[in-house]
Amino acid sequence: MSKIMSYVIPGLALAAAIGASTAAILSKAEAAGNAAAGEQVFSRCMVCHSTKAGENKIGPSLAGVVGRKSGSVPGYDYSPALKAAGIIWDEQELDKYLTNPPADVHGTKMVISVPSAEDRQNVIAYLMTLKDDHTTGAR
Ligand code: HEC
Repeated sequence: MSKIMSYVIPGLALAAAIGASTAAILSKAEAAGNAAAGEQVFSRCMVCHSTKAGENKIGPSLAGVVGRKSGSVPGYDYSPALKAAGIIWDEQELDKYLTNPPADVHGTKMVISVPSAEDRQNVIAYLMTLKDDHTTGAR
């Protein structure tokens, strides 16, 4: 018994040390927007948005959305409001829209918001990884 314990205890101490340093690294990265954490936030968007180019659901595909003009996905039936908005989706514009879409673009069809600033930063970091050709294999 005591022999087993002498193996288990150093193992636990090591696990605790690894856990602590991972947490420190993660919290540091999250401050600037963490794509991995953002992928979790994106689970709230997936009912309506695909990350595949050309696949529109209730909302337009978000493949390559960062840097794209608002209301510009071919074949998606946007609200007249978003079509006319003429926004280029960069970090600031996405942050503003996701805070409260109808307040940012009056008449937009998207009504869900992301109230937490940290969640917004993270999900925007995730959106930045969604290049248009990322999932189509057309590289
Ligand atoms: C209940 C459905 C729904 C959910 C959930 C949803 N959206 Fe939307 N989203 C829409 C619709 C519908 C539009 C089109 C709005 C319009 O035409 O006015 C849209 C548009 C957008 C646009 C503009 C795209 C473009 O091509 O101009 C972005 C960016 C966006 N959504 C991001 C998100 C993110 C990020 C989430 C998750 C946090 C999310 N949406 C969750 C329905 C949804």
